[in-house]
Amino acid sequence: MKLSDIDAPAWTELERAAVNPQSGFRYVNLCSVDPQGRPQARTVVLRTADRATRSLEFHTDTRSPKWRELLANPQVTVLCFSPIGRLQLRLRGTIERHGPESERADTAWNRLPSRTRVTYAGGPPGDECAFEIVETEPLDETKGKARFGVLSFRARTLDWFELRQQDNRRALFGYDETGSLSSCRWINP
Ligand SMILES: Cc1cc2nc3c(=O)[nH]c(=O)nc-3n(C[C@H](O)[C@H](O)[C@H](O)COP(=O)(O)O)c2cc1C
Repeated sequence: MKLSDIDAPAWTELERAAVNPQSGFRYVNLCSVDPQGRPQARTVVLRTADRATRSLEFHTDTRSPKWRELLANPQVTVLCFSPIGRLQLRLRGTIERHGPESERADTAWNRLPSRTRVTYAGGPPGDECAFEIVETEPLDETKGKARFGVLSFRARTLDWFELRQQDNRRALFGYDETGSLSSCRWINP
């Protein structure tokens, strides 16, 4: 297999995952570093992917710890694994935050179904949960908009790893600031 036959299909799979909830890459791990220098990781839904700019988009609650962490340190790793093909994509790059009132957040919010909007209407993520209030009062989805944020990720490297019965394969790709492929090479698995 040629290196040129790996990069493009990997991004095709990410683009598919953003529109197909059944895709192996639909849920990815967004890994950051907190202000104490500790690694932090969490599962997020891949919302959009664009191979031209090497970007991915995630949604989050702006009251969550990750929102603050990413302001202090926007360097992240996005770790994706699909059991179909036993493929790992390890993307390194930076995150840009788009908070409530921003155009990006507005556009994304307007596309969300009501059931998803409601997930932003509850208490702050990580705070103690007041179950009795949640059960008696139905949540008002409009409250969620003021808490809704978009995380826009741009990749600068892709570490591609395919686990096989034998002869595992691994390749490293670099992207420049415009998203063009700037380097590629096989590396030892
Ligand atoms: C399958 C799955 C999908 C999730 N998707 C998201 C998501 O898209 N955005 C998000 O902020 N949290 C999502 N979560 C919750 C996060 O993993 C995490 O627990 C939460 O965002 C708090 O993270 P933080 O404390 O690091 O800010 C998801 C959890 C699971 C299990």
